Amino acid sequence: MEKLAISGSTGKSKIFIGEKLNNLKNYLPHNRVVIITDINVKKLYYDFFPKYRVIEIGEGEKIKNLETLNFIYEKLLEYEVDRSFFIVGIGGGIVCDIAGFIASTYMRGVDFGFVSTTLLSQVDASIGGKNGVNFQGYKNIIGLFSQPQFVICDLELLQSLNKNEFKNGFAEIVKYSLIKNGAMFNFLEENYLKALNKDVEILERLIFDSLIIKSAIVKKDEKERGERRKLNFGHTFAHALEKQFGLSHGEAVSIGMVIASNISVVRGYLEHSDAERIRLLLKNLSLPVNIEFDKKLIIKNLKKDKKREGDIINFVLLKNIGNATIDKISIKELEEIINDMC
Ligand SMILES: NC(=O)c1ccc[n+]([C@@H]2O[C@H](COP(=O)([O-])OP(=O)(O)OC[C@H]3O[C@@H](n4cnc5c(N)ncnc54)[C@H](O)[C@@H]3O)[C@@H](O)[C@H]2O)c1
Repeated sequence: MEKLAISGSTGKSKIFIGEKLNNLKNYLPHNRVVIITDINVKKLYYDFFPKYRVIEIGEGEKIKNLETLNFIYEKLLEYEVDRSFFIVGIGGGIVCDIAGFIASTYMRGVDFGFVSTTLLSQVDASIGGKNGVNFQGYKNIIGLFSQPQFVICDLELLQSLNKNEFKNGFAEIVKYSLIKNGAMFNFLEENYLKALNKDVEILERLIFDSLIIKSAIVKKDEKERGERRKLNFGHTFAHALEKQFGLSHGEAVSIGMVIASNISVVRGYLEHSDAERIRLLLKNLSLPVNIEFDKKLIIKNLKKDKKREGDIINFVLLKNIGNATIDKISIKELEEIINDMC
């Protein structure tokens, strides 16, 4: 098992990579515990949950909304949960984002932790203290920063993930390598087949390397005022594409990273041959690398990006594989780039 820690403004978060859901009880401070999980995870793993009250929610991005929050707050009141309770989210990114928001707001905040059950949430969503829900078509627009006390990444749970959900996590893993660790990118090029076949050793190394990068960045810039923006590599277009095509997060990030790599080439930063290596690795990982999009709709959706500052987007580009930079690009300039690319 590998361990990492992140110190944020709301406390210290300990991450256990390779720990088991079965051992969750050892991490709970006392017996006043409520578990939040989703319908699929409960069906598969309820027998391994410690025996506390469970609040079950539906699944999918469509339930990441205020109605689901209402439902959970009502349940917490019904179960007479007070401030002394501990909340555990057991699930993927959606459960973690919702459980983190609920725990941070119910009675002005109760302590919480996660057992992260998807590759995407193990390398990204459950780590770093961001949480929240969607509102009126805007992704994660209502939320806050608050660190979980612990995150358990049980690699065995990944065996039950379907192929699509599994490959989603790889987009974020590739992203970490691109923004910070060229050697990790080479390792992915050499080992993508083993990784796709859920080789536990390879996965543990990739998750650990990803979280070393994420935790170092979050330690420096928890509230995303500078360095943490680099974690948005590929995400500006991804969020717009997710809305337009209903793509999964990983699929959209994959295409977004190809577009951002191409823009990096156009701006004279990245070698064309490196952009091609990036496209090929994503393709080898069974992720999509292009899509025909409606220019006007994409621009409209880019304007909805919550990371926009007025007319300016802090756009993450690559200088080379393993080294990202942030350029301020106006919406107008981006519109021109999109027109040229199309
Ligand atoms: N807070 C952050 O920093 C952050 C970062 C990245 C993404 N996110 C959010 O994460 C969400 C996506 O997370 P996700 O990809 O984990 O999706 P998810 O939580 O919807 O899980 C994907 C699907 O897999 C099922 N599932 C979960 N664990 C399983 C398991 N072990 N075996 C079989 N099925 C399982 C779920 O029920 C669901 O149907 C998005 O809403 C995104 O905005 C948040």
